[in-house]
Amino acid sequence: MLNVVILAAGQGKRMRSELPKVLHAIGGKPMLAHVLAVARALQPRRIVVVYGHGGERVKAALAAPDIHWAQQEPQLGTGHAVLQALPYLDAAAPTLVLYGDVPLTRADTLRRLIDVAAADALALLTVQLDEPHGYGRIVRNDGAIRRIVEEKDADDAERAIQEINTGMLVAPTAQLARWLPALGNRNAQGEYYLTDIVALAVAEGLPVRSAHPGAQWEVQGVNSKAQLAELERIHQRNIAAALLEHGVTLADPARIDVRGELVCGADVSIDVGCVFEGRVELADGVSVGPHCVLKDVAVGAGARIHAFCHLDAATVGPRDLIGPYARLRPGTALGADVHVGNFVEVKNSSIADHSKANHLAYIGDASVGQRVNVGAGTITCNYDGAFKHRTVIEDDVFIGSDTQLVAPVTVGRGATLGAGTTLTRDAPPDQLTVSRPRQVSVSGWKRPVKPKKD
Ligand code: UD1
Ligand code: CA
Repeated sequence: MLNVVILAAGQGKRMRSELPKVLHAIGGKPMLAHVLAVARALQPRRIVVVYGHGGERVKAALAAPDIHWAQQEPQLGTGHAVLQALPYLDAAAPTLVLYGDVPLTRADTLRRLIDVAAADALALLTVQLDEPHGYGRIVRNDGAIRRIVEEKDADDAERAIQEINTGMLVAPTAQLARWLPALGNRNAQGEYYLTDIVALAVAEGLPVRSAHPGAQWEVQGVNSKAQLAELERIHQRNIAAALLEHGVTLADPARIDVRGELVCGADVSIDVGCVFEGRVELADGVSVGPHCVLKDVAVGAGARIHAFCHLDAATVGPRDLIGPYARLRPGTALGADVHVGNFVEVKNSSIADHSKANHLAYIGDASVGQRVNVGAGTITCNYDGAFKHRTVIEDDVFIGSDTQLVAPVTVGRGATLGAGTTLTRDAPPDQLTVSRPRQVSVSGWKRPVKPKKD
C-alpha cells in the first residue's frame, strides 16, 4: 500500500537546454523514466508525476496508463508541488516523495525508508556529507529529528550540520493532507517548503525517523550537464560491475557504454569502446571487438564481431564472423557460420548458413541462400528511384567480383555469375552467366610515347 509522488516541475535552467530537465538521459533513458522504474518496482497503488511549464513534452515522452499527471503552475516550492498531487492520492496508504531529477536511487533503499515509516511515522532519507552546502540540514535534539532548515534560512550553527535532507521521504497521507495546505512561505526563498512538515509532525507528537541510502550516488540530483555526466559515469560503472559479476570479460570496465539492456550468456568478451543501445543479446562465447556499436541486436553463440562494426536491428547467427568495418542495418538476419567482412553493408536481407560476403559489397532487400559466395564489389541495385525491389540468390551460387544485380532478379541455385556482370534478367541455375564484352587483344598495338627532348 503506497502512493508515489514524483516532483518534476522544476525548470532546470542550469542545464541550458530546450529539453525539460527530467527528459535528459542517463544510460540512454530519460531520468524520469529511471525514477518511474524504481517507483514501479515498489508496486504502488498510485504514481503521480508533478509536472510544470513545458510539461506536455514530458507527458508525451513518458505517458503510461499507471501515471496520474498533476500540473503545478506556477512553481511555488516543493510543498506546493506535493499539494498538487494530493487529489490523486489514496489517503489510506503512505506517500513516498521522489524527485524526477534524482535518477539512480535503488529500490532497496526506498524499501528501507518505507519500512521505517511503517503506517504512521514520517520517514526521511538522509545522508552525511562532507560538503553539505546547498542542502536542507537535519536538525536533531538528543538524537531525535526536530525539523529541517534550508541552507538559505540556516544560521551558522545549523550550517555546520552535515546530515542533509535528500528530499526523499515517506509521510502518512491523511496527515499530509492536513499539513500541506497549512504551510506558509515566510522564509528566505518565499516558497512553500515540503520540509516544513517535519516540524509539524514533531509538534503533533508523530514519530519522525530516518533511513540512509546504500551509496551517495543514489541520492545525487542533476542540475547541470556536469552533474548529468558524473551520474552517467557512475551508472555505467555500476552496469560494468554487474556484467563482470555475471562473468562477462570486459577489456576495460571504464570503457563500455550500455544505453539500454545488455543480456550476456557465458564467456562473452567485450573489448574497449563499445556502445550498446536498446536491447542487445550476446549468446554464449560471443566476442565483440573494439569500438563497435550494437543496437537492438541478437548475436548467436560463438559469433565474433571484429573491430569497428555498426549493427542496428539485426540478427547475427551462431559462429558468424562480422567485420572489421561491417554495417548491418535493420532487417538483417544472418544464419549460422556466415561471414560478413570489411566494408560490407547489409540491409533488410537474409543470408543463410555458410554464406560469405567478405569484402566491399552492398546487399539490400535480398534473400541469399546457403553456401553462397558474394564476390568483392557486388551490389544489389534494389532501388529504381521510386521503388525497392528484391533480389533472390539461391543456394550454392557463386557471384564473381564487381557484379551488379539489378532487382527484381533471381539467381538460380548453383549458378555462377562471371566477374563484372550486370545482371538484369534472371540467371538460370547451374550455369555460368556473364554479361561483359568479350576480351580482345590487339596485336601490334603500340602505346603512345612522348617524343624525346635532348
Ligand atoms: C530541496 C529540499 C532540501 C533538500 C534538497 C535536496 C525543500 C524546501 N528543500 O531543496 O531540503 O536538501 O531538495 O536536493 O524541499 N520542484 C517542483 N516544484 C517546485 C519546486 C521544486 O516540482 O515548485 C521539484 C524540482 O523539480 C526538483 C525537486 O522538486 O526535482 C527539488 O527541487 P529543488 O529546487 O532542487 O530543491 P531545493 O530547493 O534545492
Ligand atoms: Ca536542488
